[in-house]
This record gives sequence, structure tokens and C-alpha cells, in this order.
Amino acid sequence: MKNILTSLLFLLFLNSLAAQSRQKPVSERVDSVMALMTLEEKIGQMTLFTTDWGSTGPTIRPGYREDIKEGRCGALFNAHGVAFTRELQRIAVEESRLKIPLIFGYDVIHGFKTIFPIPLGEAASWDMKAVKASAGVAAAEASAAGLHWTFAPMVDISRDPRWGRIMEGAGEDPVLASAIAAQRVQGFQGIGTFGEPNRILACVKHFAAYGAPFGGRDYNTVDMSERMFREVYLPPYQAAIAAGARTVMTAFNELNGVPATANKWLLTDLLRNELRFKGMVVTDYTSINELVPHGVAANEKHASELAVLAGADMDMQGAVYQRFLKELVEEGKVPIARVDEAVRRILRLKFELGLFDDPYRYCDEKKEKSVILSDHNRAIARDVARKSIVLLRNENILPLSKEVKKLAVVGPLAADKDNLIGFWSAAGEGQHCVSLVDGIRNKLGTGVELLTAKGCEITGNDRSGFAEAVEQASQADAVVVAIGESREMSGEAASRADISLPGVQEELVKALMGTGKPLVVVLMNGRPLTIPWLGENAPALLETWWLGTEAGNAIADVLFGDYNPSGKLPVSFPRHVGQIPVFYSHKATGRPYQPNNKWRSKYLDITNEPLFPFGYGLSYTTFEISAPAPDKTKFRSGEVVKVHVKVTNTGNREGEEVVQLYIHDKVASVTRPVKELRAFQKVSLKPGETKDLLFVLFEKDFAFLDQNLEWTIEPGEFEIMVGNSVDNVKAVVVVRVE
Ligand code: GLC
Repeated sequence: MKNILTSLLFLLFLNSLAAQSRQKPVSERVDSVMALMTLEEKIGQMTLFTTDWGSTGPTIRPGYREDIKEGRCGALFNAHGVAFTRELQRIAVEESRLKIPLIFGYDVIHGFKTIFPIPLGEAASWDMKAVKASAGVAAAEASAAGLHWTFAPMVDISRDPRWGRIMEGAGEDPVLASAIAAQRVQGFQGIGTFGEPNRILACVKHFAAYGAPFGGRDYNTVDMSERMFREVYLPPYQAAIAAGARTVMTAFNELNGVPATANKWLLTDLLRNELRFKGMVVTDYTSINELVPHGVAANEKHASELAVLAGADMDMQGAVYQRFLKELVEEGKVPIARVDEAVRRILRLKFELGLFDDPYRYCDEKKEKSVILSDHNRAIARDVARKSIVLLRNENILPLSKEVKKLAVVGPLAADKDNLIGFWSAAGEGQHCVSLVDGIRNKLGTGVELLTAKGCEITGNDRSGFAEAVEQASQADAVVVAIGESREMSGEAASRADISLPGVQEELVKALMGTGKPLVVVLMNGRPLTIPWLGENAPALLETWWLGTEAGNAIADVLFGDYNPSGKLPVSFPRHVGQIPVFYSHKATGRPYQPNNKWRSKYLDITNEPLFPFGYGLSYTTFEISAPAPDKTKFRSGEVVKVHVKVTNTGNREGEEVVQLYIHDKVASVTRPVKELRAFQKVSLKPGETKDLLFVLFEKDFAFLDQNLEWTIEPGEFEIMVGNSVDNVKAVVVVRVE
């Protein structure tokens, strides 16, 4: 009896200690752990290893259980599921000396198990609520699977669709990409709710300018002016950090001669001192080791020294901090204060996640079963997916009638499921996806006869399936043909020099068009493709990207008019790969483009114009957008310019329009782009309805970096342009006076 009483009293004492500890500021709690740690254990916290559950890079390390037990790593990635993370967490908090809990990270880029459109597709929605809802579901599912940290959002601007990872970002424009970056961070982390069990740490990546490699070739050199970097590539990182992103990941690439992972200007002067980032910096996969082949480090020990002194707190998978940091500290090359600074940042995250109070708080089997792939999450995924679809052409073919009796649904991607989840599909599985054929069948039920045929493969030149597909089309009232890329043809390490439609798919479309039946081309791809013939001849053309788990249902919603397509391109579609980089916010040059004037900046063999421009997308209804009506034609320092715009639904079907506002600084001491997006609003309008939109332009919206790289606004004329695509705007001039 006495022993039970003693034990109870001891437990009460421990609980009260814990309760007192929980009341202390996190910084004090961190310090109390730091005081117990050996140098090796500190370095262990600065080490992140992958498990052998998945590979997202060139190396795998089987001995991670022993690493955990010996305190040689403080975080793991590519491990998910309550059972597995609980098993590994148990090793850390029961078998290691200091019982410091692990953080589990994973690439939850566009969904965990319920997969959402690839980020480039989601960006085409221009719908910030949808973007945030998507990240919110991803966080809810990932945290229910024992995860604490996602390596997202990827916010790299890209103007080169040869680069496979263009699929992972938000396209070519800093204003759209910054708005999306902030929403994704808030969706993952919550706003002020960080640390609640359904939220996870965000990780803004890849810092910085990874999306501008020479030749569009992944991991290649990035070299650009500081003005281009600060005006175009930096803003989305700034927006994500301002939104509270707790971690940043360094990029593989060099930036202007110095690899990001060893770039002190980037990781300390800019990120810490200028952007005031207070969180933790993790490297990309063995990117410290790669400083040796980059040619800035003589060996991996030197690489460790460069990276930690530049500001990289945690080594992803390189095992170089683990091998060399102790020596570097003992040799006086790395101050212990730098190690302590990194470890404090890491431990702070673990406290903020509540892992010291309850290491298993994300390990709830019941929640895992009820949250993941729920109908609720699938419904959100379907809604985000259909909002991401861009209607590129429609010669009165769409929407199709639901009364159709015979419908041919053909093409290599018509019945496909595995590709619909795109690259970076986390724990997503094709088996949970709704294919296009399934989606149409779900929509139309048994009242329609679906005639299916593959016609051809995505790649290769086998045309033997054409006849069957054409025969099916000939029997049908209308034809839907699904073509594009495979999911592996975009994403990491997936750059393509030729971004035309692979294989003989275009020939298949031409053969199908020979039947004279109403035909809809459904594109499924991870990047802009050069499809000039389709872009000018397809009777109807839908850009559906990789829409994820609910793809088939979302496409069917659009095909049959249950959802009026509202997507707008977040990136220009080149007509030819030779035009790249082709983007809307280009400079005029001293010889601006005139198609019929030889002595101009142009090509002999092709127009300068993209096939489809930034901000472009059609609807099943029509809209009228008024000219911009600024509240003043002259504005002074400190004044805002309020711009009113009326938008009317002039058609007979409800729909959404994305009203875009661009500016052009007509004369400045530094050449300015012919257009720059400054604001946008997506509005829903009933037939005949008019809305009066207000855009407020602040000083920063007119500013640029002058020849001294100072932000400035100069007196003179600015065009303000509004419209529903960058190439369809109405302009007014306002004057900035001294
Ligand atoms: C990859 C990617 C990075 C990802 C990391 C972990 O190489 O570059 O975006 O988060 O490794 O998988």
C-alpha cells in the first residue's frame, strides 16, 4: 500500500514539474535541454536522414534506427503513418540518452493521400481560398499520419517549361506566386493556430532562384542580376516568410557563382538580417556534399564548414555535419555558438510542435483512419481540381449535353489513374483516383454508352491502335480524347529539351478529327507543352494538368457544364521551344516587335508571341470588363491610387472571371517590363450581374530598383491596364508627380 502511495506521490511530483515546465517560455525550456547536451548530441539534432521507405534523392541510409538511438539524427523524412512514426519516435524518446523527440518531414507538395492538382495547376485557379483549403487538407492528413513538417511550399518562379519542376511552383509571375505562397504557408501552419495537431511546419523552398537554371536543365547554374532576383525571384520567398513559414530549404543551384547552400549573403545577410527570418534552415538532399563537385569545397569537411558558417542549420541526408562538425568545432573553425544557434532553432520547433510535452500527439490511429482520404477531403479536392482547369479553345463544342447517347472516350490517358497524381504525390495512390472514363460514367450513369479505346501510348510511334479509336469515334455522338505526358515526364530531374506532345498523340487527334464528330481534347501534363497545331485546330481544348485523386470527376464537371471553367494560365505556353524564355513581363527593347519589320527584335521563322499567354482562359459565358477608372489622374508621394473596374456577366450562364490589373512605367531610369501584374480579383457573377471592383495601388506597386538598386518611384506616366488576360486589357494613364 505504502509503495503505491509513494509511486502516486512521485507521479504527482513529476506531473507538477512537467506542468511548471510547460509554463516556462520556450526559450528557457530550450536552454534547459541544451545544458544537458554533448557536442555530438547537438550535431545529431542538426542531422536529417531519410528512412528507406522512399527515395527522393541519390542516396539511402539503412541504419537510421541505430542513428536515432545513438542521438545521431534529430529528424527523419520519408517516413509516414502512425504505426511507423510511433515506432521510430519510441526509439528516440525511450532508448536515446536525452530522449529528445524526432521531427518527421515529408514532401507533402499537393496533398498527402488525397492528392490535389499539381501546384502549377492549382495556381491556374487564381483562387486563394482554394489554394489555402488544399494546403489545409494536406496538413490535416499529413499530421494524422504522424507527420510534423512538409517540404513545401515550393515557390520557385519559372519561365522555362523545359525545367521539369515548373510543375511544382506557381508559374512565371511574382505577384500571383507570392499570393499563393502566403496562402499555402497559412494552410499548412494555420494562422496563430500553429502547434495544433492538424497543422504542420511549412518549409519554403528552394532558396533561392532554383527555377532559373540555364537551359531549363535541373540543378544547372543560375546567374542573374540582383535587380532581376529581387524584383522577380525573391518576392514569393519573402511572402512565405512574412506569412510565418518556420523553415527554409536551400537550393541545389549556385546563384551568381556561389552555391545557395554555402552562400552567406543569401542565408545570413539576406535571409536573416534583411528578411528577418527567425526559423530554421535545412539544406536540400546532400546539397552540402555537392559543394565539392560545385567546386567551392575541397572536400566534404570543407563543405560542412562552408555550409554551417553560411547559415545552414540542418544537413539533409548528407551525414557531413555528423562526420565533420565536431572536428571543425574542436579545430576552432566553427564556433560552438554557431552550433548552439542552429540547435536552439531546431529544439524550438520541437517545443512549438508540443513534442516534448507529448511526443506521440500526432500518433492517433483513430484519427488516421477517419481523416485520411475522407469524403470531405475528396470533395474539397474535386472543387479545387475543377477550378484549376483552363479552357483554351471552344468552338461551341463545350459543354457537352448530358443527354448524349454514345460518347467515345479515347486516348492513352482516358482510363488512366496512376498518372493523375502527378509528380511529388506523397502517399497518393493511383488506385484511389477517379479516371476520366470513371468520372464521365459517374456523371452520366447508365444512360450513355461509353466507347473506349487507347488509340496509342503516351510515347512511341505505334499507330496500330488508331483504327480502333477512330472506329469508336465514328460510332459516337461526340468524342473526348485524353492525351499528354506521363507523370514522370515532369518533376525533379525531369527536364526536357523537346516539350512537344510526346509520341504520335497529335496524329491520333488528327485521325479522330477526320470522323467529323464533335471533339474535345483533354490535356494532362505537368508543364506547358508546345502544341501549336492543337492550339489552333482543336475544336475544344482543356488544360487539366495533373488534377489528382478527383481528376475524372472534376473534368466531367467541366465537360458537362456542372462547373463553368474559370482557370487562367499562370505561365505562358510557348509556341516553340526556341522561344524560351517567353514570358509576358518582357522588356520592349530598342526595336520592339513588329511582325512585318525586319529590323526588329524578332525571329525569321516564328512570331514572338506565345501560343497562349499568361492570364488566359475561356469560360462558357462572356464577360465585359470596363476600362479602369482611377480616383485620380495625378498622384503624389504617399498617395494611393484607387482603381474602380466594373465587370459584367454578359452571357447566359453563371461563371467566374479573374480580373487582372497590370501596370507599365512608360519612362524610367531603368527599362521597365511592358506589363507587370499588380493585383487580381476572382469574382463569380450570375448572368447579367455586374460587380464594381476596387483595386488599391500603393507606392510599392509603382516602385522599381533604380541603378543603385534602391527602391524608387520616379515621376512620369504609368499605364494602368485591366482585363481577363495579359493580352486583353483596357488601359488608362495616370501621372506620378513630384
Ligand atoms: C529533393 C528535392 C526537395 C525535397 C527533398 C526531400 O531532392 O529537391 O524539394 O524536399 O529532396 O525529398
